[in-house]
Amino acid sequence: MAREEAVFVDRHPRARAFHDRARRSLLAGVPMNWMVRWAGAFPLYVASAAGAHVTDVDGHDYIDFCLGDTGAMAGHGPAPTIAAVERQLRRGITTMLPTEDAIWAGEELGRRFGLPLWQFTITATDANRFSLRLARLITGRPLVAVHDRNYHGTVDETFAWLTDDGRVESRQGNIGPQVDPALTTRVVPFNDLEALERALSDRQVAALLIEPALTNVGIVLPDPGYLEEVREITSRTGTILIHDETHTICAGPGGMTGAGGYSPDMLVIGKTIGGGIPAAAYGMTADVAERVTALSPEEDADVGGIGGTLAGYALSLAAIRATLGEVLTAEAFDRMIPLAERWESGVNEVIASRDVPWHVTRLGARAEYHFMPDRPRDGMEQWRHADPELERFLHLWAMNRGILLTPFHNMALMSPSTTAADVDRHTEVFEEAVAALFG
Ligand SMILES: Cc1ncc(COP(=O)(O)O)c(C=O)c1O
Repeated sequence: MAREEAVFVDRHPRARAFHDRARRSLLAGVPMNWMVRWAGAFPLYVASAAGAHVTDVDGHDYIDFCLGDTGAMAGHGPAPTIAAVERQLRRGITTMLPTEDAIWAGEELGRRFGLPLWQFTITATDANRFSLRLARLITGRPLVAVHDRNYHGTVDETFAWLTDDGRVESRQGNIGPQVDPALTTRVVPFNDLEALERALSDRQVAALLIEPALTNVGIVLPDPGYLEEVREITSRTGTILIHDETHTICAGPGGMTGAGGYSPDMLVIGKTIGGGIPAAAYGMTADVAERVTALSPEEDADVGGIGGTLAGYALSLAAIRATLGEVLTAEAFDRMIPLAERWESGVNEVIASRDVPWHVTRLGARAEYHFMPDRPRDGMEQWRHADPELERFLHLWAMNRGILLTPFHNMALMSPSTTAADVDRHTEVFEEAVAALFG
């Protein structure tokens, strides 16, 4: 670790100088708090990014498997998105009025995810917050439920987790909660239908907000039949089921919902749909829409707690149309998913040949290794096997050899611009790291 840390510092004199300067004007020397979590002594500074590559200010090229933690899953600067955004910049960035692109986006999201009616926001966090509000409105129930070790953006109610003895408490690191989330939220382990049944049976929960597979604690896949049973229990108890596909869109053009033919009541998607331009959306069934409309007086639409001046603005809708229409297409997924399979088998071969007690999980175009021999069944199990120091070492090792992985976990994401050579270079670097660790 010491050697890799020294190499990192040596290789990045300009980034180091920028960081020294940044510490005088930016809190912790970064524009956004989680940038402190990159593995080096200071963050890289980006000079440019194109396709699946990033170039830093010290002149190093990186294969980017982080892809802005899905924000750049369409690749950096996809040409159709740039062209559409450039056109829209000259036609009006925001006017508080709709453009035709909004209709196109609603129709396309409906086609992909099977829900007919859509609203747009700037972030997936907002889309989740608004979905929860609408669910409370139409059910008249006070609580929400989530999976243990979830992440759905900075949505206050979701910052709850289970203790070892099964109590709900505010999760570690939750900064200044306005209300104790144990009062607003029920938490159930992933893949635990009995716990879900217990959490929803008294009909106090307005909405169950889930990722169809956990991604943020590390990939945890649903057991066969789990999502079908979740649908059955939520329907039976009158709980609004919200699928958050913001990361699981990696499973295919319609995320896991489209791929599995699931029918949630609401669905949230964000990050990548604008190709990097801030854009997110939430969709709903006709039944949810009818109940929402019946209970939301039009004269209060601007003060109801759902909004955002730039939500649904022209630039973001132009970006969505180009990105979904021409970049993150079904054909693109047909190239991206085999690349993730290649990544998975390369890492698997290294793990097997060195007899390392680790495991790889893949979900469509996203793959990840875990420091445990079998796949995790719930978030707690994955959490217990996390090893921040080992993770930091592997990330630093990769960065020093021209590869970026997502800082919070060992995740690699494929974009339409990623190549087989990019993937094979990762396998090579991973093999060297494992050899250095295990001999
Ligand atoms: C599943 C999921 N939903 C929502 C969000 C929030 O996205 P944003 O930070 O763009 O609001 C995230 C962010 O990582 C996420 O992983």
